[in-house]
Amino acid sequence: MEFETQNGHLMWDGCDTVALAEKFGTPLYVFSQTMIEEKCQELQRDFVEKYENVRVAFASKAFSTLAMLKIVQQQGFSLDVVSDGELYTAIKADFPAAHIEMNGNNKSIEELAMAIDYGVGRIIVDSLQEVDLIAAIAKEKNKTVDILFRITPEVNVQTHSFISTGQKDSKFGIPIDEAILFPQIQNAIETPEVNFLGFHFHVGSQLFDNHAHLSAVTIALDLVKLVKASFDYTIKELNFGGGFGVQYTDADQPKPFSYFTDPMMEKVLEFCEAEQFPQPAVVIEPGRSIVAEAGISLHTIGAIKELPGLRKYVSIDGGMTDNIRPGLYEAEYTGILANKADDAAVEKVTVSGKACESTDILVKDIELPTVETGDIFATFSTGAYGFSMASNYNKLAIPAVVLTKAGQAEIIVKRQTLDQIIQNEEIPEFLK
Ligand code: LLP
Repeated sequence: MEFETQNGHLMWDGCDTVALAEKFGTPLYVFSQTMIEEKCQELQRDFVEKYENVRVAFASKAFSTLAMLKIVQQQGFSLDVVSDGELYTAIKADFPAAHIEMNGNNKSIEELAMAIDYGVGRIIVDSLQEVDLIAAIAKEKNKTVDILFRITPEVNVQTHSFISTGQKDSKFGIPIDEAILFPQIQNAIETPEVNFLGFHFHVGSQLFDNHAHLSAVTIALDLVKLVKASFDYTIKELNFGGGFGVQYTDADQPKPFSYFTDPMMEKVLEFCEAEQFPQPAVVIEPGRSIVAEAGISLHTIGAIKELPGLRKYVSIDGGMTDNIRPGLYEAEYTGILANKADDAAVEKVTVSGKACESTDILVKDIELPTVETGDIFATFSTGAYGFSMASNYNKLAIPAVVLTKAGQAEIIVKRQTLDQIIQNEEIPEFLK
């Protein structure tokens, strides 16, 4: 991993990370606004400005806070939300509702009503009951709702099975089976409260290969043709999801966005020319690839346990509660001692978390300078699905989040207090 140092300390977006740890405490998530904006600018240049009628919707599940959504908004991107909480955060960040797209495989009636009340731009239908549900709510509110169908393109991807979503046997999407999907399409076309725009797919996450996306685009375009032939209906929008891979360790070699988007667009444009079809709007929904590498986590080393001939455990003041990915997906990370950033590695250690769980190992067998209690361990690429999947297991507090920009650093999420951890708890009368 590439990083900058100054006076032996790891620098992040012009800030001394050791000073950040001292000022704000650890565990701490640190996000570089500069790096988030660089990713957005790559997408602007190589996708939004390169093609007509295309959009980027940031998948807010990767990292959703008021400040992050402001950055996304300033980029002119849309936003993908999947729950009332993500929608509420977006509305509280003054995100224009018309630029919000609502996904989710089991949206509740309350969530749909909330989305329709706020006037979200799109609802992506993910189940067989949803069109009727949306129509009933919209009718009551005298509104029409733009919808897409999330389809299951039946492609297999090379990633951890826990984060692959486009295969046939999946809880996500509607199978492309004429007996299942086509009655839904007919229903959508005939229902005045919904405006059927097109199809959505998301094949999986942390992908380095574009084959799954390209096969799914072909499948979606075949469907566009079939819908035209069967219903004389013209699809106006296609959403190709997210899933673009990032670098967690030196073993990961991520590709630029254009490696995915150029051939996808080529397929769409070729299809439109061959079929004399108006170019549908094309939307992508990246989450991880916008924020993962912009974020690091800072932890303080506490207990050090050497098991002679076996392993040396160095424990941090957080772990699976602020980054569940190693425990959940066997995800690999790397890091350095932020306060000894120029020192050569001299020992192999295993960085373990403090949760009561054997899988709470952040990095196994990492070469570091001599590790001492009080050192600051910085883990790279924790910006996506770290804070957003954090938990209070063992009643550990959710860490604070700091945003940096060219030497400035400010808190964007305060550290949870112990009182906040128990604030919703009650003792019933019969126990008193
Ligand atoms: N759109 C839809 C409909 C999705 O389901 C997802 C991710 C995305 C977009 C964004 O995918 P991305 O660009 O971030 O790969 N917690 C897991 C990842 C779960 C992703 C679920 N869906 C992890 O930490 O690896």
